[in-house]
Amino acid sequence: MKTMLSGIKPTGKLTLGNYIGAIRQFAKYQDEYEMYIFIANLHAITIQVDPKELKKNTRDLVALYLACGLDPKKTTVFLQSDVHEHAELGWILTCHSYMGELQRMTQYKDKTAKGETNITAGLFTYPSLMAADILLYDADYVPVGIDQKQHVELARNIAERFNNRYGETFTVPEPLVEEVGAKVMSLTEPTKKMSKSGDDEKCVIYLLDDPKAARKKIMSAVTDSIGIIQYDVENQPGIANLLTIHSTLTGESIDSIVERFKGKGYGDLKKEIGDNIEKFLTELQGRYNEIINSGICEQVLEEGRLKAGKLAHKKLMKVKKRVGFQIFN
Ligand code: TYM
Repeated sequence: MKTMLSGIKPTGKLTLGNYIGAIRQFAKYQDEYEMYIFIANLHAITIQVDPKELKKNTRDLVALYLACGLDPKKTTVFLQSDVHEHAELGWILTCHSYMGELQRMTQYKDKTAKGETNITAGLFTYPSLMAADILLYDADYVPVGIDQKQHVELARNIAERFNNRYGETFTVPEPLVEEVGAKVMSLTEPTKKMSKSGDDEKCVIYLLDDPKAARKKIMSAVTDSIGIIQYDVENQPGIANLLTIHSTLTGESIDSIVERFKGKGYGDLKKEIGDNIEKFLTELQGRYNEIINSGICEQVLEEGRLKAGKLAHKKLMKVKKRVGFQIFN
């Protein structure tokens, strides 16, 4: 069985973008792959976060993973900080990453371009740690949204570099980016990504939003003056985004939705999508509330820590031997 691995940072509240671009894939593939899904809390502190908020977001993320359909019998769910091998391999791989390639990562470039002055060294070396997350488990595939593809490609390069220098050590991973839903856009500025840190609450749907309020956000989503329901990302990015959201949540193809809405108005489309989002969130939050009150999350993370830890330990030992840290045999 091939291995799949991915993670999400517990910074900010989880969005519909995180669900559509990432978690939905995790749940879909867990029957076919050996699945490792973690909470990237080491990555979370590359920016300044309030410890209380980090705790709450971490708990919410575990419960939401399960509420979104991750089955702990099939998927190993764990906290990145519980498996110290991530940090250790992260350092080793930082020493195999070049300044130039880290400088080319768009996430880092965007932050520097905005003139942010509080960029930490951790934020800069973030992709090397991400490579360690992936390579520790010999992941064949890494399901991510489009914004993380470049980081997975860097992990591939680092794996190949390491293998060439020291002999076959790591599986070279491949990013898995879905055709539809890899970049869910802002509801108010549909040429920008829907993100956890959007300034305007109306631009983003959070998985723990009040379902009725989420419906309203869909109803007030920015569209265009063309007035025809069709999938045209360039000229009608708002409508294209709504069609993407609806298609990924219902499983109906975009073509089929467009066909059904021939001759109808944007209001009709928004109403159907809004109703569906309201139902989706109500059901999801019902499961989330049950899970968060059941105490199961702690047990899931403990089992995950043990299972992931065993594998990570074995791989790190091999790496240490390769680089010359193991001196007596
Ligand atoms: P993070 O926490 O920013 O995002 C988690 C996942 O959600 C996807 N995503 C989206 N997909 C579609 N549309 C959107 N608007 C949208 N917003 C976010 C992201 O692409 C991602 O898949 N560095 C990673 C976490 C990480 C990781 C890893 C992932 C750490 N180590 C190893 C994979 C493998 C991150 O910050 O994702």
